[in-house]
Amino acid sequence: MLSIKEITALETFSVRQPVLRPGKSIETCHFEGDNLESTRHFGLFMDENLAGIASLFQEKTDLLTENNQFQLRGMAVLKEFQKRGIGESLVKYAEANAKCRGGEVIWFNAREIAVGFYEKLGYKIIGAPFIIGDIGTHFIMHKKIT
Ligand SMILES: CC(C)(COP(=O)(O)OP(=O)(O)OC[C@H]1O[C@@H](n2cnc3c(N)ncnc32)[C@H](O)[C@@H]1OP(=O)(O)O)[C@@H](O)C(=O)NCCC(=O)NCCS
Repeated sequence: MLSIKEITALETFSVRQPVLRPGKSIETCHFEGDNLESTRHFGLFMDENLAGIASLFQEKTDLLTENNQFQLRGMAVLKEFQKRGIGESLVKYAEANAKCRGGEVIWFNAREIAVGFYEKLGYKIIGAPFIIGDIGTHFIMHKKIT
């Protein structure tokens, strides 16, 4: 059985670490703002097992003009569960949550390899690509949700 529910920042680490920070310490799984009252973490469970995660931060980028912006972060699905629609379900769940809270737009830093995934969900690139540390090239992508 499949279900999505809110989880704590700490609970995301079991997916953040292998998928987003492989080979790095558990401390690198903490994101600034993880424990803010306005931040939400979502987990998709398959038969009680956490298979995928997404986090939503109330955060603005200067590249967009909307007042109420949300940033999607830490989007990750365990390798053995990828390509089964879990990532798509999590993005849609986060979009609905942001919309409920008056969000006008969602944006994020997308890894180059994930751009095609987000494009399928209606997100578009804005601005120039940039490099984040040792992770590689990223693009800012966004979609209006009003
Ligand atoms: C990117 C990621 C979150 C996608 O999750 P997922 O559960 O595998 O994706 P879904 O099964 O929901 O895919 C939805 C659609 O996007 C497509 N898709 C999935 N990953 C893709 C990718 N990397 N590039 C292009 N298309 C992709 C799927 O084929 C599917 O298309 P369809 O509807 O035509 O069948 C997941 O692969 C992942 O965790 N990757 C490693 C970490 C990562 O890159 N995170 C994003 C950081 S910005």
